[in-house]
Amino acid sequence: MVGFHSFKGPGGTALRVQVRPARSWEEFRECERIQQEVWGTIAASSELLSVTRKCGGIVLGAFAGKKMAGFLYAFLGRLEKRLVHWSHMMAVRQGSRDLGLGFRMKLAHRKLALAQGIKSICWTYDPLQSRNAALNVGRLGVQITKYIPDCYGHFPSAIEKGLASDRFVVNWAIASQRVVQRLRQGPPQIDVSGLPRANETALTASGFLGNRKLHLSIRSRRLLVEIPPHTDAMRAADIELARRWRQETRRIFQTYFRAGCRVEGFVAPSPSTGGGCFYVLKK
Ligand SMILES: CC(C)(COP(=O)(O)OP(=O)(O)OC[C@H]1O[C@@H](n2cnc3c(N)ncnc32)[C@H](O)[C@@H]1OP(=O)(O)O)[C@@H](O)C(=O)NCCC(=O)NCCS
Repeated sequence: MVGFHSFKGPGGTALRVQVRPARSWEEFRECERIQQEVWGTIAASSELLSVTRKCGGIVLGAFAGKKMAGFLYAFLGRLEKRLVHWSHMMAVRQGSRDLGLGFRMKLAHRKLALAQGIKSICWTYDPLQSRNAALNVGRLGVQITKYIPDCYGHFPSAIEKGLASDRFVVNWAIASQRVVQRLRQGPPQIDVSGLPRANETALTASGFLGNRKLHLSIRSRRLLVEIPPHTDAMRAADIELARRWRQETRRIFQTYFRAGCRVEGFVAPSPSTGGGCFYVLKK
């Protein structure tokens, strides 16, 4: 898994990518450049990356030839009395997304962490990012452990654009049977027909999905929470709508988590869902 992989690149061309630890100053600087491109700011400097690597952390790059297409940065930490890897950042350059590089870097990380005796890799992600949800909940089989409103405060991220930085905290139990099985079998097919919805949605005047009505007292064992399939485009075009999505989904997740529900799965956008995407919550 730490090694070479072949992908179908843009236009169907074959792309050979090596996932391996970053090791030189130039490679650490490249991680800084990717951060600048993706978030518009550098939160983990070359110095920090280099020192973290020496202290039990991991810095991985996905290299297409000499060019770094993405990187992953994790440090060793302690969470609820267990040693874990906290995977603070992963990013793939725009033109190289959706090829499977993020998945490959996570697999490589898992392998290296297991070799260190680590059983959990944790990180956060924005619940409204459907691509991250598909990868984390669907492909990797993480468990969502918490919802943190405005987790990092207002920070200068080009993605967040001044919105509250709400996050799910995830635990990827990398040695568990559940995860081994998920990696072997892929995301389960979930039949969402007939499940009640915590939010009824409709297209707004700006052409993006908005919430029409919230249902916060559904008692059935399983229910759906819809999220927008293209949050970045929606946020760029209609920041007020993005702000509403943040407030409304915060209410929904906090309400149902307090009522004992957990995220069971994620249904990615597809023709069979009419392009919609949903978290499945289960009590
Ligand atoms: C999150 C990120 C690292 C993923 O990298 P990636 O290489 O594109 O990931 P992968 O290709 O392995 O997986 C993406 C999955 O999302 C799916 N996807 C694509 N568009 C989607 C959408 N609009 N909604 C839901 N899923 C979508 C892809 O089909 C793929 O799933 P599949 O492998 O089952 O087909 C990348 O999108 C990124 O850099 N984002 C910005 C930074 C960020 O959010 N980092 C993570 C938090 S630190």
